[in-house]
Amino acid sequence: MKFLHLISLVAVATTCNALSVPSDGHVHRRSACTSRSVVSTSSVAVGDKTVEVATLSCDDPVTTRDEPANALRDLSDVCDNICTNVCNFDGGVLPPITSDCAIIIDAITILNGSVTDDFSVDPGEMKQLTYGTCRYYFENLSPWTLTYCWTALSQVGSAAGSACFPPTQPNYSEGLCSPADGSWAVG
Ligand SMILES: *[C@@H]1O[C@H](CO)[C@@H](O)[C@H](O)[C@H]1NC(C)=O
Ligand SMILES: *[C@@H]1O[C@H](CO)[C@@H](O)[C@H](O)[C@H]1NC(C)=O
Repeated sequence: MKFLHLISLVAVATTCNALSVPSDGHVHRRSACTSRSVVSTSSVAVGDKTVEVATLSCDDPVTTRDEPANALRDLSDVCDNICTNVCNFDGGVLPPITSDCAIIIDAITILNGSVTDDFSVDPGEMKQLTYGTCRYYFENLSPWTLTYCWTALSQVGSAAGSACFPPTQPNYSEGLCSPADGSWAVG
């Protein structure tokens, strides 16, 4: 039984790795940004804990991007768009601690209820919430401003974590979800 269990674990890991190279041939654009700057920060209090909220820009020179068709510019709300989970292994970085991630979920619920139920991210920028070992983010890899919903960040980000972290996967440091065109990522 132990042997069979190992086989199934390897099969799952292989599937996950295969997903890092999208079948449409797009290079996964997330890795294109090597250096980021903080645009703005704020924080959300969850009881006596503080979740950091930051907007980051990409410092890298702008590389060639697909120019969107005009019609696509109107499709800036991507809350309900389909994406595929990808697991990333970052040598030495352990999966986040579940209780840290739970604090971020509480912060997302607070933001969802107190300001608006969505947020906008400019081209090339990333909005992230960080607590302890855990980080949730929405990254805009498209050339136009995108809107995303707090509920989707909570649900899609958590689902990517479930697919990539223990007990499902022992080894990955990041789980993210990205659409086929690679125009954004939720992690
Ligand atoms: C956000 O608020 C809506 C209702 O306003 C609710 O249905 C949804 O579950 C909330 N999402 C989160 C993550 O709290
Ligand atoms: C974890 O990752 C390392 C490096 O890729 C690999 O050698 C090791 O077998 C992995 N362990 C498990 C349990 O998947």
